[in-house]
Amino acid sequence: MLSCFFKLTPIVISFYTFGTLFHCLYISANQRPSIKATITRMSNTPAYYRLDGAASSLLLSNHTQVPAVAWLGDRLEADVDGAMLANHEDSALAFANLDARAPLDIFPQLSTGYMGSPALAGYRQNAPVAHSFSTKHIEQTGQLLVVVLEDVKSQLEVVQKIALDSKSDVCTVSTSLKNAGSTDYRVDWLASATLPLPNHFSDCISQHGRWGLENQSYRRAIGPGRIDISNQHGRTGHEHGPNLICASADLSVDHGDALFVHLGWSGNYSFRIERLHDGTAYLQCGVLLGPGEEVVAPGAVLTCPTAYFTIGHGLNQCTQRFHSFARQHILPAWTRTPRPIHANSWEALYFDLNDNDLKALVDAAATIGAERFVLDDGWFPARRTDEAGLGDWTVDKHVFPHGLTPLVEHVRSHNMQFGLWFEPEMVNPDSDLFRKHPEWVLHYAGIETPLARGQLVLDVAREDVSNYLFNCISSLVSEYSIDYIKWDMNRDLVLPGDGLSPRSSKQPQAVYALMQRLIDTHPTLQIESCSSGGARTDFGVLKQTGRVWTSDNIDPIARGTIQQGFARFFPPEVMGAHVGHKEAHLTGRSTNLHTRAIIALQGQFGFELDARVLNKDDVTTLHHYTQLYKQHRSWLSNAIYWQLPTSDNLLLASGLVSTSGEDALFSILLLDSLKTTRPGCQRLRGLAKTQRYRVSLASSNIDQLDPFNKAMPAWCRNSIVSSGELIMNIGIPLPVMPPQSAILVYCALEVN
Ligand code: DGJ
Repeated sequence: MLSCFFKLTPIVISFYTFGTLFHCLYISANQRPSIKATITRMSNTPAYYRLDGAASSLLLSNHTQVPAVAWLGDRLEADVDGAMLANHEDSALAFANLDARAPLDIFPQLSTGYMGSPALAGYRQNAPVAHSFSTKHIEQTGQLLVVVLEDVKSQLEVVQKIALDSKSDVCTVSTSLKNAGSTDYRVDWLASATLPLPNHFSDCISQHGRWGLENQSYRRAIGPGRIDISNQHGRTGHEHGPNLICASADLSVDHGDALFVHLGWSGNYSFRIERLHDGTAYLQCGVLLGPGEEVVAPGAVLTCPTAYFTIGHGLNQCTQRFHSFARQHILPAWTRTPRPIHANSWEALYFDLNDNDLKALVDAAATIGAERFVLDDGWFPARRTDEAGLGDWTVDKHVFPHGLTPLVEHVRSHNMQFGLWFEPEMVNPDSDLFRKHPEWVLHYAGIETPLARGQLVLDVAREDVSNYLFNCISSLVSEYSIDYIKWDMNRDLVLPGDGLSPRSSKQPQAVYALMQRLIDTHPTLQIESCSSGGARTDFGVLKQTGRVWTSDNIDPIARGTIQQGFARFFPPEVMGAHVGHKEAHLTGRSTNLHTRAIIALQGQFGFELDARVLNKDDVTTLHHYTQLYKQHRSWLSNAIYWQLPTSDNLLLASGLVSTSGEDALFSILLLDSLKTTRPGCQRLRGLAKTQRYRVSLASSNIDQLDPFNKAMPAWCRNSIVSSGELIMNIGIPLPVMPPQSAILVYCALEVN
């Protein structure tokens, strides 16, 4: 990109005259005293900066007091020059407005006449500060732009690092604020990113939910008034995911334009979307701070969590970009290897643990193909219910008189890995830890913190707390050579304080640091992020964890939309997906074993059932799916995800296609009875148009389907061969499926 800049320099210089003139007019209208120096500096800088990815370009124009995103979208093929760009930015100015255009730049501020949410709000010495930042310096190094803004009057400096990943086309913005003054600066709001929305973006799709029903998409119009989606749960939360899509009205899986934005943060946050009175619209996101929560001392720097975004065509393209970015830059390296099949003890035994039952469960799980056994909650002292024990991280000698060694050895005798559940941030008042250190919990003096699941939250940002947790966990990891930790977090943070001051934004960082310390000490240790299911799912925690327990709801019918929502931003191999009991514990719904297994195959496959009570047919069925998973998992851990367009909302369909294009598995779930007698054809995606594929039914449920079909499409019994183009355009004829059933379709590239 530097070469591009040098090439354009002569044109750019002629433009500066215009740029400077514009600034002079603009400034005099607003009577800003400190700008002159800024103009002098700006006239030595180019009028715009350009980042190019594989399919996207980002143009940052430097015509205004603070740079603005002039273009983010399809990769620009032609050269751009500053004069050209300025013509596009020279928008009309209507009457009854300010006398100058209020810029919608990367760090919008009220002092310019901008009427939206400012990038920064804060106080110095108890007086609110009116900010007036301007560009001090911009530097481009390869795919990275570093923009330095300064506000001389309020003695603050902002650095924004904007990067475009050339492979995935995902951009990142990281914002930090330096207090260059001699008194504390109290931050009320500091946006991680503010992005302009293209004019034709009329819709916004956010993700919401509750315990047991995460990641439900909600689409609304960007109408008048600000949309503010604020999470105050102190974790990513079930209620509002940090994932947002702004889009054109015609957005579908294949078509339409979409901006995907994600904030990599496991704490409180706000997403603000607004169309202003002048027609411009923006999206802003950042950490939601409590009053007085972030005080930046003189000389100190506050860095915001990174915001991630891309603009593409159709949901699938943006999703695939996010997956590609996460695989390259976020996830731990072990996620790139084939994922082992899990068996988890929770829904099989809950708190009713003993060596014999656990060993029998391990035996049964091994029979159906499990490769890692995870001992869930209940193994530490007094943990016979969820009212006691959290915080006392030693093995309960009443339940395990010889420690965990006999169980771990049993697990290893099956050549399985061993995983253990922890909930490190939590403490029950009924625990030795709390009796010894009541002062370690997050609280406000004089206010009783409400319990949730009978537990309180430890102030992990305290060094003594963090050291205690590290020592407990690390010694168990060493003693039992633990391969894997399921790291749970089962309550919201309510008024988290250290007694006097708020602590909620410190907590996520302290948890990340504790996880990282454990990983550094035990480099092969793998950690899963769980939070009453999927309430801690974001790029912040995924840097340490690499797997999420997607939801406590294992009912495959509910799971269909939960997993689809998850996979919209996060790669499917990160998504823990288990085959549960016939009657789902969270919904009471009974489903066929094939349906449960097919839906679990969308993510990292595993079991969460009492495998001891499976009958012979069930074992044979599960064998089929574990073999299938093992056969394909080498490419599944890097597969390209496609949500499929369906002809009816009752059909949920998605597929995973290998990066080589040689293999593809598509799952099709029918949520309820269709209104038509025939289900029609299902169009697949991701295949090479001109190649031939052998299409077959990979699920072993032909007998389940048979009674509902007077005639079954030929491919269901014997594979057929067709071109990628026909499979994607006409689609494959679906068999008649009973309600709440699923099928799995395998497409294999035909060699010759
Ligand atoms: C909540 C998790 O989501 C469950 O999977 C299980 O681990 C329980 N906590 C244990 O208390």
